[in-house]
Amino acid sequence: MTALASAESALLRLFGIRHPVVQAPMAGGWTTPELVAAVSNAGALGALAAARLTTPQLEDALERVRALTTRPFAVNFLLAAPAPPPRDTQAMDAVLDRLRAAHGLPPSVARPAAPPAALVDEQLGLVLAAGVPIVSFAMGDPGDRIARVQAAGAVAVAAATTVAEAELLAARGADAVVAQGAEAGGHRGTFEVGADGEVPLVGTMALVPAIVDAVRVPVLASGGIMDARGLVAALALGAGGVQMGTRFLLAHESGAYPAYRRALIAARETDTAVTRAISGRPARALRNALVDAIAAAGDAGVSPLPYPHQALASGDLYAAARTRDDAALAAMLAGQGLRLARAEQPARAIVEELVAERTRIVQALAR
Ligand SMILES: Cc1cc2nc3c(=O)[nH]c(=O)nc-3n(C[C@H](O)[C@H](O)[C@H](O)COP(=O)(O)O)c2cc1C
Repeated sequence: MTALASAESALLRLFGIRHPVVQAPMAGGWTTPELVAAVSNAGALGALAAARLTTPQLEDALERVRALTTRPFAVNFLLAAPAPPPRDTQAMDAVLDRLRAAHGLPPSVARPAAPPAALVDEQLGLVLAAGVPIVSFAMGDPGDRIARVQAAGAVAVAAATTVAEAELLAARGADAVVAQGAEAGGHRGTFEVGADGEVPLVGTMALVPAIVDAVRVPVLASGGIMDARGLVAALALGAGGVQMGTRFLLAHESGAYPAYRRALIAARETDTAVTRAISGRPARALRNALVDAIAAAGDAGVSPLPYPHQALASGDLYAAARTRDDAALAAMLAGQGLRLARAEQPARAIVEELVAERTRIVQALAR
């Protein structure tokens, strides 16, 4: 029991927070400055996703978080390198055009270029210069970026999906490790994806204690944790805290648009799939017309474009989903726990409910 309590207090001390809960960074415009600040103001840790933000957008977001909270918060970077632009996109263009036609959208092959790989390091410099206290990484080996973060006086966190990845992060000197189980919504954090998109899918229940046993730094359990039952379970597995994404998508302050929220609330635990349909890299998402059409194309021998080109090719579909508020063509990353969150709430209420329910559960277990 003391080892469990000390894992949690080590995490709270490391981050300078009161509750062992991290709101997952979620690229796509969902982790608004308002969400990040509300979570941090409630005594947990808000995290801003830097991926897919331009540098001026990131600067603006940092300024807005700073205006809304004086508490610690984190900024997160995704490290998967963009593949070179694919030469042959005709077959996938035809698949996407059929989807466009079926949904009353014009054909399109217009495609923004992938952001340069150097952008992460440029934006990391900006974040460190701005004095952000905690920086986290996922979808790759951060290498000497861990030391760079620490040299600037910040805390470095990184995500692993296997014990081997966690051991590498520990060897790099990471201050904390996120153990991302297979239930998790969003991209798999796996460092190296197999040629046909294979990734290990180790569940949170099996992965967390194995990583806790393998590293000496605090571990954040992530994937399928939706309420205080998951929080207590994660602490019992030896985690110092949890990183929760899907639940916070339904916070009032998140950037999720109404159709996305409605789909999350209506979905069952069987409605997600790990798919390359969204971006070209495996990610857990809600199935819809877009995911199903690209899966069917895969069965007919048409593979998704390599990351991030599939997302760039579908950019107009994702934008239309948002402006029309129609989930059929949306990119809706979500975890398997979605049946456990059915209400939209202020972020502060989510944190307060987790804390209060946790106490109740622990007392019930002690009886
Ligand atoms: C919509 C969405 C976007 C995500 N984007 C990121 C991201 O930008 N960076 C990151 O480290 N993790 C990202 N994740 C994964 C989360 O960090 C976390 O592992 C996951 O949300 C945990 O599973 P849960 O959704 O079941 O709570 C994302 C997850 C979701 C649902």
